[in-house]
Amino acid sequence: MPRVFAPGVIKLFGEHAVVYGKPAIAATIDKGVHVECVRGERLEVVTVAPPASVRYIPGERRFDAFGLERFFAYVDAALRVGEERWGSVSARFTITSDLPPSVGAATSAAVAVGLLKAYAACAGVDVGGEELAKLGHRVELEVQGIASPMDTAAVSIGGVLKIWASPFRAERLEVQLPQLYVAVLPRRGTTGEIVADVRALLGRRPSARAVLDAIGAVVDEAEVCLRQGDLVCLGELMYINNWLLGALGVVDSRAVSLLETLRPFIYGGKISGAGRGGVVLLLPRDADAVEKALYAMGQTYIKVSLFASGATLV
Ligand code: PMV
Repeated sequence: MPRVFAPGVIKLFGEHAVVYGKPAIAATIDKGVHVECVRGERLEVVTVAPPASVRYIPGERRFDAFGLERFFAYVDAALRVGEERWGSVSARFTITSDLPPSVGAATSAAVAVGLLKAYAACAGVDVGGEELAKLGHRVELEVQGIASPMDTAAVSIGGVLKIWASPFRAERLEVQLPQLYVAVLPRRGTTGEIVADVRALLGRRPSARAVLDAIGAVVDEAEVCLRQGDLVCLGELMYINNWLLGALGVVDSRAVSLLETLRPFIYGGKISGAGRGGVVLLLPRDADAVEKALYAMGQTYIKVSLFASGATLV
């Protein structure tokens, strides 16, 4: 009965610009998606996630009522890619998640990669690393249209990674970070829509390309600070990266006001992922004060630690 843990991903620096050839730094965390595979009579997928526990038999039922259409689009695509690669498997896959979907924590990549790894395991194959990353990226491309390989590579390879999308390269940075806080705001729009808006802005306003260059420079500087364990420097660069993302139109006033309110207690922070709400990363200077302030604001948050590996059989 193979069980897979596919970690979620925080984007420490460089999202959006990574789509245009700049490097980014992403890291896997100790919260993510769990996929269990039990061989059975037929292929089915059960998701145990709010708002419902739903059984899905590919090709038979759709789930508009639960807003799970997008989720099952990733499931369908991953099952198709799995079958193409490892042949057909009759099994029940159960998917659970520690993280809310569609907020920038790479749950779609974790579902795609976790399901592919569980599918392979049920077919008697151990798949990982770059092969898994490539297959996971195919799934994201099929569903989203535009997607850099960042999230699927991070979920597959794991650790803190400096990533270039094209040509794809991932370099592991052997660095430590303290526990981080991830505030979760409701998100306006999907990753695909937000990435398309940024593309349209860059088309209309060529001067916005300078913002991408500046984000690339932040990423290179952040790598040095990470290697030195310099949290003050990292915090400053997170703020800078966040304002640059704001210039691309993906940071809204809720994230700005959250970061300003918490400023006395954090080294820095930024949105993580496509933006317009979703995940806001906080690098705490005084963890107790951050937690009290988040609680007092009634703000949903998750505490996360770095997780050193990619999707694993547990
Ligand atoms: O919000 P997420 O977790 O889907 O991350 C999107 C990251 C982007 O750089 C904005 C897009 C991409 O494909 O890399």
